[in-house]
Amino acid sequence: MSKLWGGRFTKNTDVAVEEFTSSISFDWRLYREDIAGSIAHARMLAKCGIITADEADQIIAGLKSILADIETGNFSFETALEDIHMNIERRLTERIGPVGGKLHTARSRNDQVALDTHMYLKREIAAIARLLWDLEAALVETAAKHPDVIMPGYTHLQRAQPILFAHHMLAYFFMLARDFSRLQGVWERTDLMPLGAGALAGTTFPIDRFYVAEQLKFAQVYDNSLDAVSDRDYIIEFLAFASLLMLHLSRLSEEIILWSTAEFAFIELDDAHCTGSSIMPQKKNPDVAELVRGKTGRVYGHLMALLTVVKGLPLAYNKDLQEDKEALFDTIDTVKFSLQVYAAMLRGMRVLGERMSEAARQDYANATDMADYLVKKGLPFRQAHEVVGRCVRYCIDAGKGLTDLSLAEFKQFSPLFEADILDAIQIETCVSARNSYGGTSSAQVTHQLQKAKDVMTRQ
Ligand code: ARG
Repeated sequence: MSKLWGGRFTKNTDVAVEEFTSSISFDWRLYREDIAGSIAHARMLAKCGIITADEADQIIAGLKSILADIETGNFSFETALEDIHMNIERRLTERIGPVGGKLHTARSRNDQVALDTHMYLKREIAAIARLLWDLEAALVETAAKHPDVIMPGYTHLQRAQPILFAHHMLAYFFMLARDFSRLQGVWERTDLMPLGAGALAGTTFPIDRFYVAEQLKFAQVYDNSLDAVSDRDYIIEFLAFASLLMLHLSRLSEEIILWSTAEFAFIELDDAHCTGSSIMPQKKNPDVAELVRGKTGRVYGHLMALLTVVKGLPLAYNKDLQEDKEALFDTIDTVKFSLQVYAAMLRGMRVLGERMSEAARQDYANATDMADYLVKKGLPFRQAHEVVGRCVRYCIDAGKGLTDLSLAEFKQFSPLFEADILDAIQIETCVSARNSYGGTSSAQVTHQLQKAKDVMTRQ
């Protein structure tokens, strides 16, 4: 097949090279943006008197008919035509004749592909923001549905202090809310219009880049043409956003996987969100959580790949940059799918509150409260820590919990203990007493829940 750039060549491209350099197998995804960008470009060329209004009309009609063909599956993408830009341009000229060749005036594929990718990512950011918002809502709903459930809070994966389950869920909400605001930042730096940079240095034609930006709803235009064609920061930033989001989901996944074991039995996932084993009939596996945890690795991989691709590239365009697309597309797919299945999994999750509070009652998770009790009676915290430590040691040896001790036993450790110690170390008291801002008391968690809802109305 003859090339759009064939003039200076005397030989055909090697078949393997053709396949190696071609990007159509993945960049066909940019077809909508490529056509919308070309239509805006053609209108601008006519407005600036670079082509006639009639020529622009023919080009635009041709582009619209190609869009319809692609959408109805009547377009065959050719590897020999390398990429989406040349596939569409070649078809345009076949369809409307030589006037189709005027579309590429004052434009290069370098600024064209940059434009397409900016537009594509803007569209996907909007879709991802909606899915992320819905997952935030699922976390808020899960927290609100179980306002009184007490669970053990952990450090080192050892039971540490009793907390509200809702507090734990809202911790993930606030992580995702930061992800949302990071995504808004990525949007701002993606909302920059590169077309008109030409191959690298601008163009000799009297174009109007601001008119193109206005038609395509871009807030700003790149100020430097070299930067416009070689910038991939916005993609890398998006991959960094995605990496952190997946990191957060991966941490939650790890907890969901642990919590759904027989050992923890804190939750039960809905059958619809689990799969079975081909050999062990009793198995019900938390595959969604496991896969989200696993897919985090591939998203990190894409971030590393692109950071490495761009590192050391001289200005301006280099073909290396074509490597941005598979990383971007796969990350978008992975993130969207993960968000979607995750929200459904959370909404279907059964919380086994009794098991959680039973676990919170064990393993001396109330020891800090016992020390705090002594401090409130005047003992310096370090001494209180020591007293309670000895008391815990005694209970471990006696096979008892702190709440099993009699007042006489308590008094052996410190005369400061009074009858009210038993109430002070009930897990309900431990929770309600942690009323410092951001803490786990039900008043504080209610405040966090309200704050979460406020944050979501502003997103
Ligand atoms: N397919 C190319 C890419 O994705 C388009 C730009 C090609 N430019 C060039 N000078 N070969 O980067």
